[in-house]
Amino acid sequence: MKVGVLVSGRGTNLGALLAAEAAGALAPATIAVVISNRPGALALDRAAAAGKPAVTIDHKAFADRAAFERALLAELARHEVEAVVLAGFMRVLTTTFIERFPLRIVNTHPALLPAFPGVDAPAQALAHGAKVTGVTVHFVDGGVDTGPIIAQRAVPILAADDAAALHHRIQVEEHRLLPAVVQALAAGRVAVAGRVVTVAPGGPGADQLV
Ligand code: GAR
Repeated sequence: MKVGVLVSGRGTNLGALLAAEAAGALAPATIAVVISNRPGALALDRAAAAGKPAVTIDHKAFADRAAFERALLAELARHEVEAVVLAGFMRVLTTTFIERFPLRIVNTHPALLPAFPGVDAPAQALAHGAKVTGVTVHFVDGGVDTGPIIAQRAVPILAADDAAALHHRIQVEEHRLLPAVVQALAAGRVAVAGRVVTVAPGGPGADQLV
């Protein structure tokens, strides 16, 4: 399963996916292309260092969202991409894009959805006084962080946490969970019944997906 990874920032999740692929823990998924909507994103350097096509498609260069998405789809098609991973990609995709990859677009979000969707989820959890938060990997639908949940890991919120410290601890879990989900999806171990997603046991990251 050829995967396109969409990024906007530092790309630590991309780094985790690349490391999993190098370790043989992503197969049968392979990362075919990395696309950033932000020029100069550190994620592009990570992709290039791993020998992956690293492409910038700057959303600001397009007249509207539809034109931006047409460019994304063309680049993904060029690399024969079959599934898309949003790894810190901070643009909302329209249903036109999403319908091109039915149940083949996953996003990682630093909270236990449906709590704290959108931007700055760790700060939202702190401001709310939550005692536990975590990471969610989910299918992407037309909403903001609303699609069917594939897997989650909980992370306790500590009294001394600020948003950066909390996000860092969430990312430790996120960097394990996201590659495990991508591998399971590629291996055909993910079943969907309406909103309820089941991941069959097995695979390199199986202990993450309980
Ligand atoms: C990740 O923690 C991801 O969950 C979050 O952005 C971070 C990107 O980090 N995404 C969202 O908040 C989406 N709503 P990275 O660029 O180092 O992978």
